[in-house]
Amino acid sequence: MIKLENVKKNFGDLSVLRGISIEIQDRQIYGIIGQSGAGKSTLLRCINGLESYDSGTITVNGAPVSFENKNELRKLQKKMGMIFQNFNLLNRLDVYDNVALPMKFWGMKTKTPEAEKKIRGLIELVGLGDKIHARPRELSGGQKQRVAIARALVLDPEILLCDEATSALDPGITREILALLQKINKEMGITIIVVTHQMEVVKQICEQVAFIKDGSVIAEGKPEELFVKPTKEVKAFLQEESDHLPEEGINIQLFFTDESSDNPVITMMARELNVDFSICWAKLEDFRSSVYGSLVINVKEKDKEKVCAYLDQAKVLWEVLD
Ligand SMILES: Nc1ncnc2c1ncn2[C@@H]1O[C@H](COP(=O)(O)OP(=O)(O)OP(=O)(O)O)[C@@H](O)[C@H]1O
Ligand SMILES: [Mg+2]
Repeated sequence: MIKLENVKKNFGDLSVLRGISIEIQDRQIYGIIGQSGAGKSTLLRCINGLESYDSGTITVNGAPVSFENKNELRKLQKKMGMIFQNFNLLNRLDVYDNVALPMKFWGMKTKTPEAEKKIRGLIELVGLGDKIHARPRELSGGQKQRVAIARALVLDPEILLCDEATSALDPGITREILALLQKINKEMGITIIVVTHQMEVVKQICEQVAFIKDGSVIAEGKPEELFVKPTKEVKAFLQEESDHLPEEGINIQLFFTDESSDNPVITMMARELNVDFSICWAKLEDFRSSVYGSLVINVKEKDKEKVCAYLDQAKVLWEVLD
């Protein structure tokens, strides 16, 4: 649905996007993750035509995002709703009028029964039916983001772009907002791109993710796959390099996928091979209701071959760490 090919963008001497190529499928929730300054917001702004790019192509449903035809660009922009970290609500307007704002901007009537039905419907969809005439200052951060989501949906977009939409919210409220985005994706069939620096966000809702570093994609795939076998750079991003592994013996990292995470591989191996080892590091995490994990064990040099052979036949993914 959205295709970027070798997109490059400079701000003066600063090369902010260095040849980004990604493809986002219809109805997907796609994550773009990376550290501050990686170029995530710039990328999102290029996709919805708020920012121009120097070379490469961006297409949405085959139509190029291009500055040559302002009318076409505006039509494309109408298909894309956007939400931000700081909500961008107008304080002098109540919830209803904030949600109605894009319709006003497009010269549409906002007080007709039809418009009212739609605006009220969206406010109810985001769970704020009882706050319809509240002002933004009377709302919590989570509620403000709900208003912003309703506003982003009011022109019936096909795509919702979220720039750090949950970064200012606590973990509990973050989960609620993400659940709302998931519902919007499922029930309304809206494609969603989430830009974030929080791995939690990607884990909870994204079906596909691109890691961006210094304006380049350093890894792309399903979040659980990248997590189960992260590349060196992804590991560094996740700050998962453990400094506390033993220097003696052999450290072996095991990766558990959804199918293997409830197999008692470790205890069975200890019993069957009659070897001792210590567990040096471990984690288990949820990805959209599936559990994935990884574990580092330390075995004696003399047991290395036996253990590796056992893990192979047990169909566990593993690697010896340097
Ligand atoms: N309008 C601009 N003019 C000049 N430089 C800019 C402009 N916008 C962004 N930059 C620079 O481009 C780089 C990427 O910025 P961008 O906002 O895309 O990063 P980001 O990944 O969204 O970071 P964050 O996680 O902090 O939001 C930064 O070095 C930033 O200073
Ligand atoms: Mg940003």
